[in-house]
Amino acid sequence: LRIGVLASGGGTNLQSIIDGCQSGRINAEIVTVLSNNPDAGALQRAAKADISYQCINHREFDNRDDFDSSVVAALLDAKVELVVLAGFMRIIGQRFLDAFPGRIMNIHPALLPAFPGLHVQQKALDYGARFSGCTVHFVDGGVDTGPIILQAVVPVLDDDDEASLSARILEQEHKIYPQAIQWFAEGAIRIEGRRVIIDNTRQ
Ligand code: GRF
Repeated sequence: LRIGVLASGGGTNLQSIIDGCQSGRINAEIVTVLSNNPDAGALQRAAKADISYQCINHREFDNRDDFDSSVVAALLDAKVELVVLAGFMRIIGQRFLDAFPGRIMNIHPALLPAFPGLHVQQKALDYGARFSGCTVHFVDGGVDTGPIILQAVVPVLDDDDEASLSARILEQEHKIYPQAIQWFAEGAIRIEGRRVIIDNTRQ
């Protein structure tokens, strides 16, 4: 399976996927890493792992469509079969979605449909939630609204702050994202409307 990873930040999710592919736990190859942020740590992680990477800076485009077209072109050139968003801070436009139907995944650091959007670890704390967690989902036209593939739950502790809760969630992100990608690589994932069915009987 040929994967393209899009990241805007430090890239610890990217790193867990790099490690998974290199260890054979994920039967896939990251063929390109793209970032809209020239300073993204994710680009340095790609370089260190000898993976081809590219910065496509959204500030250099007049509008979202032109930026999307440039990203889609780079992904198609690399013959990407699964697009993995790992802390990618740009909304995926319709043109992008149409180019990869049912083939774009995202990870969100909350238990969707609770707390979509940004700063969701703090939102869970402010709300007084007793548990939070993370969600791997397919990307659709909404923000954090696509069919859910896998989730992990973590407790919210009384002395938690945004940093401690985010770290506990991130630890689970690094487990469930590689797992979801491996299931996709095995062809074990089926989407039925809103439901995602995992067929683990396939070996
Ligand atoms: C993660 O918390 C992820 O859930 C969110 O952005 C963060 C990315 O972190 N989408 P990293 O760049 O993978 O370390």
